[in-house]
Amino acid sequence: MLTDLASIARACQSERTGLGAFNVIHLENAMMFIDAATRAGRPVVLQISENAVKYHGSLAPIGTGTLVAARAARVPVAVHLDHAESVDLVREAVELGFTSVMYDGSKLPDDVNRATTAEVVDFCHATGVTVEAELGEVGGKNGVHDPTARTAPGDAAAFVADTGVDLLAVAVGSSHAMVTRTAALDTGLIREIADATPVPLVLHGSSGVSDEGMSAAIRAGMVKINVSTHLNKVFTGSVRQTLAENPDMVDSRKWFASAGKKVSAEAERLLRLYAQQ
Ligand code: G3H
Ligand code: ZN
Repeated sequence: MLTDLASIARACQSERTGLGAFNVIHLENAMMFIDAATRAGRPVVLQISENAVKYHGSLAPIGTGTLVAARAARVPVAVHLDHAESVDLVREAVELGFTSVMYDGSKLPDDVNRATTAEVVDFCHATGVTVEAELGEVGGKNGVHDPTARTAPGDAAAFVADTGVDLLAVAVGSSHAMVTRTAALDTGLIREIADATPVPLVLHGSSGVSDEGMSAAIRAGMVKINVSTHLNKVFTGSVRQTLAENPDMVDSRKWFASAGKKVSAEAERLLRLYAQQ
């Protein structure tokens, strides 16, 4: 069933479990992740990034398909706009029926980020849409890994109070698009930020974090766990292998389906890992 992000994130925050948030870059991903969540008996966030929207040319086709799949699911599913730098795109997602958005003003000067985030919160809350924002830019989106950025606990608390956001993405040692699971998270800082702010925290760039590192982060208070690259690696690795072993295969449904099963199995494994307290 389609569910708002704030409720499932707050439930995970109070039970100290993690909430898997996986990127839908092809519509098939929505089915893979819903199947994974159903087997794991866990809620899940299906997120579509502004970059994925650019790839598809517009939000409506993939967004609407994902919403239809979420409404038919037997577990709670939030449909989320990820890393939106465009306020117009946020408005479009709200009109389509997305249950949450991430407004990403992390590259903007602090005062502009605060003011624009507060404006987004106003119009999203008017229709019950959850808002995530980012404070302290998590690097790696431009291909340059910079795991040194950090969010100060006092700044996080002030940002949440000033803007009214429901979830906060923080910089604690991860970096986007890592293909090795070697990021060292600052779990002490996660604990300090979690103690200082009332809202569930979000980890971006989770592909670079090991299973042990993630369990420690969740124990320290991290809630929404954003994973994209790691699952893409599983998908593309499977496609490479299937096509190498079957040079005559031409029906894309065959290699797509077998890669999709592997992605779904890995997503299920992650959801079960995040559920351990
Ligand atoms: O917003 C999405 C994520 O932060 C995914 O990052 O590709 O490094 O897992 P990742
Ligand atoms: Zn991210």
